[in-house]
Formats: sequence, C-alpha cells, structure tokens
Amino acid sequence: MNEPDDQITTISTEALAALAAVSSIEELDERVASIVGKRSAFAAVQRTFGSLDPDERREMGARLQEARRAVENAVESRRAHLGDVQRSSMLEADRLDLGDVVVAARTWSVTAGHAGLVGTTQAELEDVFVAMGFAVAEGPEVESDWYNFEALNIPPAHPARGMWDTFYVDLGEPETVVLRTHTSPTQVHLMEAAVANDALPIHAVAPGRCYRRDTPDARHLAAFHQIEGLVVDRNITFADLAGTIETFTRAYFGPDIESRLRPAFFPFTEPSAEFEITCTICRGAGCRTCSNTGWIELGGCGMIDPAVFEAVGIDPDAWSGFAFGFGIDRCAQMRHELSDMRALVENDVRFLGQFA
Ligand code: PHE
Repeated sequence: MNEPDDQITTISTEALAALAAVSSIEELDERVASIVGKRSAFAAVQRTFGSLDPDERREMGARLQEARRAVENAVESRRAHLGDVQRSSMLEADRLDLGDVVVAARTWSVTAGHAGLVGTTQAELEDVFVAMGFAVAEGPEVESDWYNFEALNIPPAHPARGMWDTFYVDLGEPETVVLRTHTSPTQVHLMEAAVANDALPIHAVAPGRCYRRDTPDARHLAAFHQIEGLVVDRNITFADLAGTIETFTRAYFGPDIESRLRPAFFPFTEPSAEFEITCTICRGAGCRTCSNTGWIELGGCGMIDPAVFEAVGIDPDAWSGFAFGFGIDRCAQMRHELSDMRALVENDVRFLGQFA
C-alpha cells in the first residue's frame, strides 16, 4: 500500500518548491503555516490516516513526521539565508564607497582630514573677542555643585535648577558632581583666582563643551559648546554689555544680521536678557529651524548679580560687571545657514567636506 507514501513525497517536493519561492522573511512568516503548519498539505494528509489500520497508521505517521521535520529544517535554513541576504543588502546600501571619496577628494580634500566646523567657529569667536580686548581662559567640564550652581546664586533644590537638565556624575555624595550645564562656572573660577591673586579687573572669554539632558533637535545637542564672557571692572553698566554684544554681532555675522536683547531671567545676572539674531535660514520670515519666530536665540547675558560677587568675595559696591554665554554650535549654525544642528555631529563626509 504505497499511495500515502507517494503522497508524502509529493507533498515534501511541493513544500520545498513553495519554500524556495519565498523571497523575504516577512513572506516566509506569512506562508509558513501553509507550507508545514496547520494549513499545510502535511496536516491534511495526516487527517486521512484515521482510516488506516493501526500498524499502517503508525508507519505512515512516522514517515510523515520525518518528511515534515525535513521541511521544517529547510524552513529554518531558508530563514537564516534570507536574514543574511537582507542584512548584507542593508550594509551594501549604507556602504561608503571609498572610490567615491577618492574621486571627491579632488574637490573636498577629505583624505587629509581637517578641523571640524565647531572648532573652527570657536577659534573665530575667540579671535573676535581677543580683538576687542578679551583674554581667553578655560574651565573644567566636570564641576562640583558649587561651581555649576551654588556660587551662581542657584541654591540646592531651587526651582531655577530646572532651567538646566543636568547630567550627574557618580562620584562622592549623590548629586554633587555634574557635567557642567553651561560655561558660567568658569566665571566663578576666574573671579576666585582674581581675588586670590589680587588681579581684578577681569576681561575674559571662556569657551568649552557643556552637557544637558536635552533631546537633540534642529537647534539642540546634548553635548554642545558655549563661549562665556566676563567683565568685572569699575563702573560697568548695561550699556557696556549692549555695546559689546552689538560690536560682536557686526564683527561676526556682518551688517545684514539684526540682533535684539529680550528681558529674561538668570539667577546669576540682574537684569538679564536673551540675545537673539535674525534667523539666517529664513531671513526672519519664519521656518522650522526657528520654530516660525524669525529669530534664533544665541545665548543669555546680564549684569553680574551681587550675590555672585559675594559668593566669590568681591565687593559689589566697588566693582560691577557683566557676563554672557553664547552657543558656539548655534553661532556656527547661523553663520553657515544649517537648517539642522545635528549635521554637526553626524560625521557625513558630504557635509564635513564642505568645511575643509
Ligand atoms: N549660562 C546661561 C545659560 O547657559 C547663559 C548666561 C551666561 C546668562 C552668562 C547670563 C550670563 O543658560
């Protein structure tokens, strides 16, 4: 009685042919039930075994199991193969053709490597401020709570801390060591050192990297750069601050770009302002980059709060001063009309090569 045996052979052959015709894992998932599963010919023929006598049923059952298992194994190897094919076509699509780079290098000179846009921008900003009479200083990127917050008139648990989404470092007491959220702590270092060395007045800028638990978007990166400005001298007024910012804007962005100061709040300056320029992407018309406002905030500024002078031991009646903190990445973004700041960190040679 060979009939069911032949049937099993036919079913296996057809199942293997159907399997070979499947061209993706998704299609395999859809069709597997009709190849070996409940909706397959294997299942259908098994149901007919009820009419066979017990010995024959046992024998056919065993053959069917064997044939089915062979097809099941074939399903798994097909799945692995399709996975490999899909993975390698994904890699192929992402592949950087070094031949293209070599050809492109004639115009981009990418093969030699070159300074990144943020570093170049930082150097240009330093040049502008040095020309205006500022010294260049640097502070640490990892700070204690005192430098990042408390000396800047932001006490523990004060609601103003919410202005900075802080990354805490797991060192010492919890929540006492932070990745600096701004370059303003460098103000504190500069003032402390000037007091210790009897070296007032101060006219300094301090560039560097800062960190915030921000979700990156067109205008934000979680690791970004600021340039802090600090002037402590006799009889400094808000007019000195406004004049400095105006001079900087003209020197760095040229005469076509408008700037404005808007009243704002920072715990370490009083009065405080936000410094904005016309969005260079839309020239003020409103676009996705500037959230349709026509303006881009470059940073904050203000007159040093007397509480900060007191924290570092400077007499607020004898000295006054101003400070500002501008985003270096924002300056690069506006100067080079980048609609999305994330391009600065994506390492796409087509982008990087434009700034060689
Ligand atoms: N540190 C402020 C910030 O990053 C900016 C600022 C600097 C404001 C100096 C006033 C004075 O948000």
